[in-house]
Amino acid sequence: MKKLIALITVLALSLSIIGAVAESTFTTIEPGKLSYATSPDFPPFESRDENDNVIGIEPEIMGLIAEKLGVELEIVSMDFTSALASAQLGKTDMVVSGVTATGEKYLERSAMFDFTDIYTYIQQAVVFKTGADVTLANLGEKTIGVQAGTTGQGYAEDDYGEDHVVAYDTYALAFQALLNGQVDCIMLDDVVGNAYLKIHPELSIIPTEYEQEGFAFGVFKQDTGLLEAINAALKELVDAGTVEEIIVKWNN
Ligand code: ARG
Repeated sequence: MKKLIALITVLALSLSIIGAVAESTFTTIEPGKLSYATSPDFPPFESRDENDNVIGIEPEIMGLIAEKLGVELEIVSMDFTSALASAQLGKTDMVVSGVTATGEKYLERSAMFDFTDIYTYIQQAVVFKTGADVTLANLGEKTIGVQAGTTGQGYAEDDYGEDHVVAYDTYALAFQALLNGQVDCIMLDDVVGNAYLKIHPELSIIPTEYEQEGFAFGVFKQDTGLLEAINAALKELVDAGTVEEIIVKWNN
């Protein structure tokens, strides 16, 4: 009993000195390395720079989390559906890809992997060529492009029918189809729609009335303390205002 009390005292003391994150125990698939899968077609959350490095809000947050956990960060690029599967099958420790952790998709996805706490919110929007006759009221007569496996696909198919929806593996392909006139519009997360408007100024955006969606990171279900460790690190970054700073920086 004395030993236990001594241990607890030492633990409590070191916790207060070093902070909860450094003390948390966790394991990753490959020791010393934290890997995540992502679909880097999703600015400002993740895109590729000219050297093919994945950049944006999420790699920056994850870089800081990895630093806090004292592990090396490995980012593996693939399409969105594969990125979700990667964290489900434990091919990577996580999926970090603007993943919505609310609504119907939350139930579906939390059976695949564990969600961290939500760190930001978005809403679905519709992007189309400026001047085209696209409104929320006439979407049912249009062809809507989406990324396969996304909440945007879910909403568009539920409300307008599969016949009106074309799913692409990446937003790069969806936007190419929009610019080529193969689809009338794209349904996607508003923050990302606005980022594509900066790349393609000939496009316009309108908000939808769907509920707000919270973004979180998906963690391979394995109960190794990793989820708790990441949540603790994320909380520190949120509380310090760092997450907000990163979001504001990448939206400018
Ligand atoms: N937030 C939406 C969802 O979870 C879209 C995510 C797409 N992510 C990406 N990196 N392309 O379904």
